[in-house]
Amino acid sequence: MLKGKHIILGISGGIAAYKSVVLLRLLIKAGAEVQVVITPSGKEFITPVTLSALSGKPVVSEFFTANTGEWHSHVDLGLWADAMVIAPATANTIAKMANGVADNMLVTTYLSAKAPVFVAPAMDLDMMAHPSTVRNIELLRSYGNHIIEPASGELASHLVGKGRMEEPENIVKALERFFASKSDFAGKKVLVTAGPTYEKIDPVRFIGNYSSGKMGYALALEAADRGGEVTLVSGPVNMNVSHPRINLVKVESAKEMLSACESIFTDTDIAIMCAAVADYAPKHTADRKIKRETSDVPVIELVKNPDIAKTLGQKKRDGQTLVGFALETDNESVNARGKLESKNLDMIVLNSLRDKGAGFGTDTNKVTIYTRDGRELPFGTKPKEDVARDIIDTIMTL
Ligand code: C5P
Repeated sequence: MLKGKHIILGISGGIAAYKSVVLLRLLIKAGAEVQVVITPSGKEFITPVTLSALSGKPVVSEFFTANTGEWHSHVDLGLWADAMVIAPATANTIAKMANGVADNMLVTTYLSAKAPVFVAPAMDLDMMAHPSTVRNIELLRSYGNHIIEPASGELASHLVGKGRMEEPENIVKALERFFASKSDFAGKKVLVTAGPTYEKIDPVRFIGNYSSGKMGYALALEAADRGGEVTLVSGPVNMNVSHPRINLVKVESAKEMLSACESIFTDTDIAIMCAAVADYAPKHTADRKIKRETSDVPVIELVKNPDIAKTLGQKKRDGQTLVGFALETDNESVNARGKLESKNLDMIVLNSLRDKGAGFGTDTNKVTIYTRDGRELPFGTKPKEDVARDIIDTIMTL
C-alpha cells in the first residue's frame, strides 16, 4: 500500500523520538519515500545523521542551509507529499499546528501540506489531559487531521497513563489502512446528520439533548477522506469541520433538519442518520420570553416531530443506502432490528447506554451493527474515529 508513496515524517522534541527511527525504517521497508523534517528540539533527542542515513535523504530542519544559503521550500515539500505523519507530536508542536504558529520548518510544512496529515501525540499524562492540549487536538481533528491516539502505559516520567506514542507498527498500519480505503467512496454522494436538535419554547429556551455531534462529524470526515462528497447536516454543536469535500449545513430544529435532508436526498447515494433528533417539539413557540413573574407555571404542549430517517426510508429508491442509529437502554437487539424494519433502513448501528464508553458526549463508542441481510457485528470500545471507519467499512459490504 505504501510502495512509492511520498511521506513526510515530522519529528518533534520528545523522548518518543527514538521510536521514530523504527517508524522510518518500517516506512522505507514498505517501499515509501520518506522526507524527514525535524524541529530544532527534535534534534536534541535523535540525530539527523541516523535519520538521513536511514531515509537516504538529507534531513530538513532549518529554512536555510547555513553555509550555502540554500532555501528549503516547505511549499514544495507540502505539494510533494502523499501524506504527512508527525510522530512524536509534542504538546508544543500540536499547539503550534492548531494555531498556525509557523516558527519552524515542521509547522510551516504542515501549514503548506495538501496531503492528509496523521498526528501521533506523545507526552506526559497530565500534559495530555490539560484542557489546552485537549482543545488543540480537537482543533486538529476539525481541520481533518487524523489523530493516532496515544496508548496508556508507562511514560518516560515513570508515571502510568495516557500519552505513550502509538507503536510504529500501528502507525504504519494506520497509513496503510488509509491508502487502502482512500478512494472507495469516490464519487459517492453522502448525507450525514449529526448532533441534537433544539426545539424552541421561547426566544431563550429550548428542548434538546446531550448529543455532542462527535460521532456524526467523525463519520462525515471518514466518508470525505475516502473520496465521498459529503453534506453534513448538523444540529447545534460545539464542533466545526473544514474539509474540501464536506458541505456543512447548520440547522436548529428537527423540521429544519428534515427539510435540509429532503432537499438533497434524491441526489444522495448513502444517507447516515446519526443525529439525535428531538422526539417532540412545543406545539407553540412563545414570541417573547415566558416570564416567571407574570405567568403561572406554564404547561408546554408537545407535538411529535417528523421522523427524518423514516421519511427518507419511505422515499428510498433502489441503489440508495440508508443507515440509522439506535441508542437503547433495554431490549437493545430487538429494538434495533425493529427500527431497521420500521424505518426501511439497510443497516442500523446500536449503541447501548449500558456500555461504559458508549453514547453521548464520550470520545469513544461501542457499537453493534445489524444489517438488512441478517448480520450482527459486535465491535469493541474504540475512539469515535475508529468506530466511523468500522461503520463505513461495513457500509461498503452492503
Ligand atoms: O426511533 P429512534 O429515535 O430511536 O431512531 C433513531 C434513528 O432514527 C437514528 O438514526 C436517528 O437519527 C433517526 N431519527 C430521525 N428523526 C427522528 C428520530 C430519529 O431521523 N425524529
